[in-house]
Amino acid sequence: MSSASGYSGMSLAERGIRRIEWAERLMPVCTSIAKEFRRERPLEGVRVGCCLHVTKETAVLVRVLLEGGASVALCPSNPLSTQDDVAAALSSLGVSVYAFRGMLVREYYEAIGRVLSHKPHITVDDGADLTVTVHKILGGVRDEAVSMVQGVVSDPAESCKGIFGGTEETTTGVMRLRSLEEQGLLFYPVIAVNDSPTKRLFDNPIGTGQSVFDGIMRATGVLLAGKKVVVAGYGQVGSGIAARARGLGCDVIVVEPSPVRALMAAMNGFRVTDMSEAASIGDIFITATGNINVIRKEHFEKMKNNALLANAGHYDVEISKKDLATLSNRVENVSDLVTKYVLRDGRELYLLAEGRLVNLVAAEGHPPEVMDLSFSLQALAVRYLVENRGKLGRRVHVLPSAIDERVALEKLNSMGIRLEQLTPEQLAYLREWQLGTS
Ligand code: ADE
Repeated sequence: MSSASGYSGMSLAERGIRRIEWAERLMPVCTSIAKEFRRERPLEGVRVGCCLHVTKETAVLVRVLLEGGASVALCPSNPLSTQDDVAAALSSLGVSVYAFRGMLVREYYEAIGRVLSHKPHITVDDGADLTVTVHKILGGVRDEAVSMVQGVVSDPAESCKGIFGGTEETTTGVMRLRSLEEQGLLFYPVIAVNDSPTKRLFDNPIGTGQSVFDGIMRATGVLLAGKKVVVAGYGQVGSGIAARARGLGCDVIVVEPSPVRALMAAMNGFRVTDMSEAASIGDIFITATGNINVIRKEHFEKMKNNALLANAGHYDVEISKKDLATLSNRVENVSDLVTKYVLRDGRELYLLAEGRLVNLVAAEGHPPEVMDLSFSLQALAVRYLVENRGKLGRRVHVLPSAIDERVALEKLNSMGIRLEQLTPEQLAYLREWQLGTS
């Protein structure tokens, strides 16, 4: 008789399937798009190359694409975020998955190369490592990343030449793509899924707001109430983290270089200062800036003993690991998720998740209900690229608002929320310009 508790006796792939099905239950918009795709098969014969965090929610997206008739090859968008049971489950479903948790950087770029060896027509990216690698290959740039890719694909340019469109999931990735576009170097149209309101207003603040604390709690188990939490960056992501930190009873200090955002933080009731001052106050530091060396030597020098350091930005560049190492005379692993740096003066600083995305490395990323929105948009963006093949310029595009509204409306329906219907009189009034003070 099988055990009623836990996963005993199940293979890794079977566990992955269970968890994917759990996520699917909580992703009703993706499920309804999957049904539509099964009926209409809009992606028949399309090869999609994905570079995404390999999570149960990503698996749901992959299954939607398969329902549409696509074939999918998948590599991770972070060396540490892969959920191995999900990778095994997707492999068992016939998806070409090149992912395991804890890849070396070389293995990471080789995985990108293996996805390219499937000769994708469309790239689906999170952070733009796949898209930028393709652009380096097509643009003749030769660097370390490209040579790692070349180690596994005999003719990388040949593998990339059939790509006619891409999508991008995250703010950092969109920034990299806009730089390519500004320099006239974009080879194919890319849809900035991140910039759709139904993505950025929910995934970025609400998804990250919850999953970052999920990660910090799983990694450390510390009490959050009463802690002084320094949030670096008050953009879409940082503002969500600050709001959740306040809700958890933390005393929140925001560090932000933009005057408008700093003012918003101040008027939302947060203490705002620079990192130089915040460094000596914080118990927990969370970076969400998309920038490099946001916390560095001069800040570590001022920190309290036992300060925790966590990053929520896409790359592990926000907290300077180099400076931490230089200042330390001992580095020890407390656990898989916590590294202790013993500084020369005896203070101890604790880096979570190696400075990589704490919400995806120490926890499971954003909850399925939020990824339902982001990944519905991704699926519809892939369909949009197929249906508009050859018609979109080599630019960074935003999805039409009708697609955005469709996803929001289906989500509301799934939540049993009714929308107010405007009367004909009200609709006419909104189009009227003559009526004013009466
Ligand atoms: N990015 C943030 N959370 C994620 C998740 N759960 N799955 C895939 N990508 C993510």
